[in-house]
Amino acid sequence: MRDIQVRNNLSAPHAGKQSPLYRMILSKTGMSSEFEPSTIDYSALWSDEWWGFHTSVVYTKLSKEQQRRVLGRCNQSLLNEAYFIEKSGLAYCAKMVLTAECTDNAQLYSFIGADEAKHLAWIEPYLDAQEKQLPSGHFLLFLSKLIEEFSPALLVYLVQIILEGWGLDHYNRLSKGCAQPQLSKIFSSILKDEALHHKSGNLLFDSTVFSVADFSLISDALQGYTQMVRVGPQAAVAAIDQISGGLSLEDVEEVLVALRHEEETVRKLMLLKQLMLQPGVEHLVENLNATGSFAPMSSHEAACSYLSAR
Ligand SMILES: [Fe+2]
Ligand SMILES: [Fe+2]
Repeated sequence: MRDIQVRNNLSAPHAGKQSPLYRMILSKTGMSSEFEPSTIDYSALWSDEWWGFHTSVVYTKLSKEQQRRVLGRCNQSLLNEAYFIEKSGLAYCAKMVLTAECTDNAQLYSFIGADEAKHLAWIEPYLDAQEKQLPSGHFLLFLSKLIEEFSPALLVYLVQIILEGWGLDHYNRLSKGCAQPQLSKIFSSILKDEALHHKSGNLLFDSTVFSVADFSLISDALQGYTQMVRVGPQAAVAAIDQISGGLSLEDVEEVLVALRHEEETVRKLMLLKQLMLQPGVEHLVENLNATGSFAPMSSHEAACSYLSAR
């Protein structure tokens, strides 16, 4: 059973609205099949105040139409990420069910898998067909690699404790800041389920089973998490950079300051550290701390990092 290979097929299509199966899934979620992504004004879902763009000189100098497009793209990137995380939850639970060594574990992961399927069905109608084929950002590929390649014991720590714990903060922010009541309620409902997923990870976590090789894999994965957070909101920077027609180093830095990169990224890194600090892995967290992995890049460094990858 331990040799089970799971493939996280991120770009797997949906059957579409005309499919009886699609309608059956939708009927389990309370969503309406009349809902059309083309009617959504993405720029209105989370405001420029929520992002911090309103204090950016670069942003306020854009035309109203450009500002609308920047917000629309940033907000779509939040939905894109949530959609693919929930979709990855299906592959995660499939692996955990098939490798479970006791019935209770298999039951638990079947329950969690049903939650993730429900979350996916809630979010899916908010994305157009193209968005559902295009996972954006490094994080989703990083997560897929963990799910496909790492052992269940490592995944309890890396996915259930760290990622699902992180998700509590993230979904809470999305819910509180979302201007569309139905979507805000969806994120709030997801949050309640994720709290249980995270808590069950705490119950199952056992670092005594980790080998030397496991600790090495975990250490690399923890570093991967911190590196993705340390650079700040690069997707939002990319949106304004592309829509404005290209920003200078100073402009990118100004946008990052407006997006409260240094304050927010410190907060997120501290949360990450707190989630990572579990019994038996403290030394790995301490090593990361000693090498500055929990310190955000300065806005200048993050701007240089963005431009070097552009
Ligand atoms: Fe979920
Ligand atoms: Fe979850």
